[in-house]
Amino acid sequence: MIMNKFVNVRRRKTFRLMLPPFLFFILFLTSFSISFGQTAEAEQNFAQCKACHTIGGGRLVGPDLKGVTDKYPQVWLIKFIQNSQALVKSGNKEAIKIFNEYNKFPMPSHNLTDAQVKDILLYIKHDGKLPAGVSAKKAPIKTAVATARQANQEERYFEQKRDARRNLAIAAIIFGILLLLSIFDLIFAHYLKAKWIHYVIILVALWILGEWTWDFTTSLGRQQNYQPDQPIAFSHKVHAGQNQINCEYCHFTAETSMNAGIPPASVCMNCHSLVKKGKLTGTKEIAKIYAAIKEKKPIKWVKVDNLPAFVYFNHEQHVKVGKIDCKECHGDVAKMDQVAEVHQLSMGWCLDCHRQHKVQFSSNKFYAKYKKLHEELNAGKIDKVTVTMVGGEDCAKCHY
Ligand code: HEC
Ligand code: HEC
Ligand code: HEC
Ligand code: HEC
Ligand code: HEC
Ligand code: HEC
Repeated sequence: MIMNKFVNVRRRKTFRLMLPPFLFFILFLTSFSISFGQTAEAEQNFAQCKACHTIGGGRLVGPDLKGVTDKYPQVWLIKFIQNSQALVKSGNKEAIKIFNEYNKFPMPSHNLTDAQVKDILLYIKHDGKLPAGVSAKKAPIKTAVATARQANQEERYFEQKRDARRNLAIAAIIFGILLLLSIFDLIFAHYLKAKWIHYVIILVALWILGEWTWDFTTSLGRQQNYQPDQPIAFSHKVHAGQNQINCEYCHFTAETSMNAGIPPASVCMNCHSLVKKGKLTGTKEIAKIYAAIKEKKPIKWVKVDNLPAFVYFNHEQHVKVGKIDCKECHGDVAKMDQVAEVHQLSMGWCLDCHRQHKVQFSSNKFYAKYKKLHEELNAGKIDKVTVTMVGGEDCAKCHY
């Protein structure tokens, strides 16, 4: 009994003695992991800035960020990094000045919280190094390896698809020759006695030739899912997706003319005079831009979306007047490494949308002449005016 009590007291005592160091240890652990987490996160978040900025490494697409934390107040920097264009549009003098200095190239907005931006700023202030005492090497290395692996995978997929096509073409040629030889042997030469060999070769050859013809014709004709290889492995996912470059920055005539247009190499040079290397393809693909500029030869892009010559289609009419998003007709291009034709550009497709889609009726003076429709709309007899109601099904509107 006595023994037991004694032990109990001793236990309680040691427990009391151990508690403060223990709590301190826990506190130390959590604070360590928080600062560890934040710096690793800041480094990760800064990765999305690296395509356009360095810290002390000179100008890229955007300014060198060394010392930027001393140049502007933090509140301004947070707003600018989250959404620089909003600041420009609000008339902020500093934002407009730097925007003009960089040829009106909009810095993309970033979906970052105030705290995350503050972390990035701290990271920039430390010249892109982690504050002393934090040996947080592990996490950044891991992410670098992970993104490199992901990039490799994407590249491999890209190449696999291309190789599959080439292999099919080579196989088709070889089996085409074998096919001719077998037929020749079967009818004239009789060199091989076992006829089943001829039949097997002929069957396999026909099958491969069939596959190849299918592949060939589908990439020639105007086809849904048509996805030709381009002379430069230009990726919309990298540009319009990851770097959030506006569609109209490159397809700058989409709002003002019939054609959206493909940007000339000089537009690529706005950035690639400085961005010389990509994560997926290194310098290989970007070098082709320099070659095109040097040789003064336009890049021979393969057109993906094709309408027959007897159809009239106008981008301005749809993008600017109709306020239709590129996505509705071209799919989510910003997610594509290689552009594909998403819809079958058939007459039925055009008409389907014209029957359902509203025109910008009240706001467009052009439609003032449709007095009856205005009256019906105001009286509540109809709830919308579709394209078809203003002549969107007239043959002559789409056919020359
Ligand atoms: C696609 C390129 C691009 C990316 C990505 C990008 N920026 Fe920028 N940034 C610019 C350009 C261009 C400017 C020049 C201002 C302008 O055109 O609006 C700029 C300006 C700035 C400025 C003002 C610098 C000064 O000296 O006035 C800061 C700060 C800045 N960026 C921070 C960031 C941070 C932080 C990130 C990542 C979260 C980032 N940027 C991502 C292109 C980019
Ligand atoms: C209403 C549907 C529609 C919308 C909206 C639309 N496009 Fe198109 N786009 C087409 C069609 C159809 C073609 C094929 C035109 C042809 O072959 O004459 C095309 C062709 C193109 C081309 C090839 C070059 C050219 O001018 O023919 C580009 C680039 C393009 N579109 C980009 C865009 C961008 C960027 C947007 C958004 C700003 C957009 N498109 C909005 C239907 C649309
Ligand atoms: C507004 C700036 C800008 C313009 C304009 C631009 N690019 Fe880029 N491009 C970038 C950035 C940023 C990267 C990403 C670099 C990286 O991977 O870190 C890039 C990457 C690339 C890559 C390499 C992709 C990879 O990850 O390997 C190629 C190829 C490329 N661009 C081609 C073009 C071509 C062709 C044009 C013109 C039609 C063009 N770019 C126009 C900013 C631009
Ligand atoms: C950095 C420049 C750049 C940006 C930004 C850009 N594009 Fe393109 N786009 C190109 C180039 C170069 C081609 C031709 C090569 C190809 O088809 O990939 C092209 C081709 C296309 C095509 C195929 C045209 C055809 O029929 O041959 C469509 C559709 C298209 N872009 C839509 C878009 C949309 C939608 C966006 C915005 C989400 C966008 N682009 C942003 C440069 C750009
Ligand atoms: C996603 C919907 C959509 C698709 C697809 C579409 N259009 Fe349209 N189109 C519109 C809208 C909306 C307008 C009216 C714009 C306005 O005036 O407000 C319009 C207007 C037109 C006009 C002018 C009609 C007039 O009354 O003056 C022509 C011509 C036209 N489209 C041709 C085409 C052709 C050709 C195609 C197929 C290759 C096509 N459109 C596909 C939505 C579409
Ligand atoms: C909104 C635009 C639009 C209108 C309105 C329109 N068409 Fe078409 N038409 C097209 C397109 C786009 C094609 C190309 C379809 C294809 O190649 O599959 C086409 C193709 C055709 C063809 C070729 C056959 C084919 O399917 O390829 C004929 C014939 C034709 N149209 C007749 C007419 C007649 C007649 C009218 C009036 C009743 C009319 N179209 C109204 C857009 C239109």
